[in-house]
Amino acid sequence: MNAAESTARIAVEVKELTVRFGDHLALENVSLSVPHGAFVAIVGPNGAGKSTLLKVLLGLVTPTAGEVRVFGSPPNRVDPQKVGYVPQFKTLDRTFPALAEELVVSGLRRSWPVRIAKEEYEAARRVLERVGAGHLLGRTVSRFSGGELQRVYLARAFVRRPDLVMLDEPATGIDMLGEADMYRLLEDYQKETGATLLMITHDWEAAYHHATHVVVLNRRLVGFGPPERALSERCLREAFGHVGHAHGISLSFGGGDRA
Ligand SMILES: Nc1ncnc2c1ncn2[C@@H]1O[C@H](COP(=O)(O)OP(=O)(O)OP(=O)(O)O)[C@@H](O)[C@H]1O
Ligand SMILES: [Mg+2]
Repeated sequence: MNAAESTARIAVEVKELTVRFGDHLALENVSLSVPHGAFVAIVGPNGAGKSTLLKVLLGLVTPTAGEVRVFGSPPNRVDPQKVGYVPQFKTLDRTFPALAEELVVSGLRRSWPVRIAKEEYEAARRVLERVGAGHLLGRTVSRFSGGELQRVYLARAFVRRPDLVMLDEPATGIDMLGEADMYRLLEDYQKETGATLLMITHDWEAAYHHATHVVVLNRRLVGFGPPERALSERCLREAFGHVGHAHGISLSFGGGDRA
């Protein structure tokens, strides 16, 4: 494989990335390459720099040092239509009288949709149904429960059919059945489109069963590779300081039978 062919297969390239906020070091010398079509789970303790890493890839945070490339370009040069994002914290003005379909269609445009075209409404309806939120059409987002709002944000990320989807703790607030549906949605979407997924999660079991690659982060890159390797006791101990079994987390992950 020549150099051009090998870069064509890389969706996200991070080289010696350091991010400093004042005198706080959020990321230190992180390097990794994500191939097209990978499903990457990013795990690590609170404050490990996980959200910061996604924000750098979105062009929302500027690296202090190092380089990142998304589809071969600096993040601010990437076509926004190619990237879907579900943020960890929703900066939604709870007094804003937006409807579910408007929030979804805002993912198709750069501006707030004052008027929605018929085909945009149809696209929003289809994707809301797909995330189990068809019943939220026509309803005001400010009254949604946490899990309902999370589903609408998932729909918003997928409506533009992105090649790269970044999800910051997407299962937050979603009930157990909904969570299984969400992983099915992610996997089906990936099968249909060949998209690359980057997902931050605190659920090691989900990372083990659904991801093709796992990033273990604690300011520095502690592990990166197939789940069996990255979720080793050594990596987890290094990232978290300890490996808890108190909450039913077993490092055997159910005997290693990957779904
Ligand atoms: N804009 C900012 N200004 C100053 N400090 C920041 C900023 N953004 C993040 N930080 C700090 O950088 C560190 C990494 O934050 P980040 O949000 O990336 O962590 P995280 O791994 O996503 O954590 P969590 O699991 O709690 O979501 C934290 O210590 C945080 O306080
Ligand atoms: Mg975070």
